[in-house]
Amino acid sequence: MTEVVHTPRVFSGIQPSGGLTLGNYLGAIKRFVDMQECGIETLYCMVDLHAITVWQDPADLRHNTRELAAGYIAAGLDPNKSILFNQSQVSAHAELGWLFSCIARMGWMKRMTQFKDKAGKNAENASLGLFGYPALMAADILIYHSTHVPVGEDQKQHLELTRDVAAKFNHDFGVDFFPMTEPVIEGAATRVMSLRDGSKKMSKSDLSDASRINMTDDAETISKKIRKAKTDPDALPSEAEGLKERPEARNLVNIFAALSDMDVDAVLRDVGGKQFSEFKPMLVDLAVDKLSPISTEMARLMNDPAEIDRTLGEGAGRARAIANPILEKTYDIVGMIRS
Ligand code: AMP
Ligand code: TRP
Repeated sequence: MTEVVHTPRVFSGIQPSGGLTLGNYLGAIKRFVDMQECGIETLYCMVDLHAITVWQDPADLRHNTRELAAGYIAAGLDPNKSILFNQSQVSAHAELGWLFSCIARMGWMKRMTQFKDKAGKNAENASLGLFGYPALMAADILIYHSTHVPVGEDQKQHLELTRDVAAKFNHDFGVDFFPMTEPVIEGAATRVMSLRDGSKKMSKSDLSDASRINMTDDAETISKKIRKAKTDPDALPSEAEGLKERPEARNLVNIFAALSDMDVDAVLRDVGGKQFSEFKPMLVDLAVDKLSPISTEMARLMNDPAEIDRTLGEGAGRARAIANPILEKTYDIVGMIRS
């Protein structure tokens, strides 16, 4: 069998489940923008079908979908360069998701750490959608034959499962149809940690608002949260090696590096030897400088929800034009009659 070479195409998604954090920005959106500027075709989705795997109030879901779209655009995603849309408007995702539910195995799903974390102690009471979530995620990616997926570290396991689904489908039907997608987990901030506990991921669902920086926080709130962030009493080291056993210090340095587009070693060459009393104000200035324009622009865009909806509708049309022929071909491979 000759190997099919797939043209480069980037896909990624974020759940509109409320409140974008600095983790989403540095781990995902900022890197979506970098890839958009590489001249490759880029599709970025608000994965509303994934969001409802846990309860979402309908009015909140609508608001959060628009706010996420505003966040994408305010951070630099350009609807003329990237295809921006919400998942439920392109029904091919759900259709391929079903086909993949018949390819993926229960045992694969049971190993997913995100399911275990989200379902908690009462897994029997979790929705069936939460359990099957990774099959739909594989469909999001593969319905476009996407070759590269920028995500934060926490999505690595889901991307491995996506490759397993593609490989099993290709094997079962004796085709070379779906590509082996590459995760793109790069940069200084692939795992931004809580400002209150360096062993926990910064997350929109953390009960403590002080643990995270929200993309809608104003300058004063950002400043207060960074000044109060947990640290240790030592000065900053001059080399990354010196951060190994210092998770909180490492997190703040990683955030500084990612926000300033520097690598960690270069940051430490500048700030090594400084106390946190000196470093934190530098980080506050940098964070406010980079994040304030985004939150201001998000608020401006949110004043015109109809324009956001129009942008998403237009993006969905372009997404469908790529997805539908791939879905038809998939149905044909599986043996469905489509007359
Ligand atoms: P979610 O909000 O769970 O839909 O995540 C959307 C994207 O943001 C995914 O690519 C995640 O890997 C990324 N992300 C979420 N939290 C963090 C974090 N604390 N650090 C780095 N990336 C993150
Ligand atoms: N599971 C991802 C998260 O929780 C969101 C997501 C859904 C996604 N489908 C995707 C990310 C496809 C990348 C590609 O963050």
